[in-house]
Amino acid sequence: DLSPIDKAKFVAAKRAAELVEDGMRVGLGTGSTAAWLVRCLGEMVREDGLKITGVPTSARTAELAREVGIELITLDEARWLDLTIDGADEFDSELNLIKGGGGALLQEKIVATASDQMVVIADKAKEVETLGAFPLPIEVIPFGWQTSQALVEETLISMDVMGRSSTLRMNGASPYVTDEGNHILDLHLNRIGNPRQLALVLNQIPGVVENGLFIDICDTVVIGYGDGKVEVRD
Ligand code: A5P
Repeated sequence: DLSPIDKAKFVAAKRAAELVEDGMRVGLGTGSTAAWLVRCLGEMVREDGLKITGVPTSARTAELAREVGIELITLDEARWLDLTIDGADEFDSELNLIKGGGGALLQEKIVATASDQMVVIADKAKEVETLGAFPLPIEVIPFGWQTSQALVEETLISMDVMGRSSTLRMNGASPYVTDEGNHILDLHLNRIGNPRQLALVLNQIPGVVENGLFIDICDTVVIGYGDGKVEVRD
């Protein structure tokens, strides 16, 4: 028996899996919700003979996809994808997102952008009026990361955000390392007044590789509820 939150994630994933058709190249997201999707697709491959190739957005997802029997190719082999299905940490009414709570934002953004369609699967609790209560992850290269952090905080002063502090994401006693060998700064902003502008400005800062704001990338959000209800927004 699933807890209400897991049930919400599962029903959203299951509904989104119905969008996947034979022959599709599918971007496979990262996180606990996306893991439900990968398991659903694996079952469809094994039991219904669904024929797809997947492009994973992290080493974790690649491992799970292999375990459940999904054939994988790299993004460079695929070049473009029909559909990416991924989770999110927050989504707003314009279907803009914060992603990267699981640390995979860089590959996730590249894969989603290479896809004809991006579908987000999320439990209802991820819906917000204004993005920013969830700390915004940005990926920075290890070289001079403290200098990049200082530049980021300086930049935030001029932006329409409430908070200004950032923290280096840790993995026990050492900095967290992404699949690309970088670090993550979590920006505690509370409220992001202009996510489009912030996303552009952050990526101009030397040392910043990518930020977790997904603007105009997501086409559809499939929202799961704890009682098994599903709602589709596009
Ligand atoms: C991974 O890097 C993130 O972008 C995830 O999509 C996000 O953290 C959602 O994860 P959950 O589905 O576990 O909430």
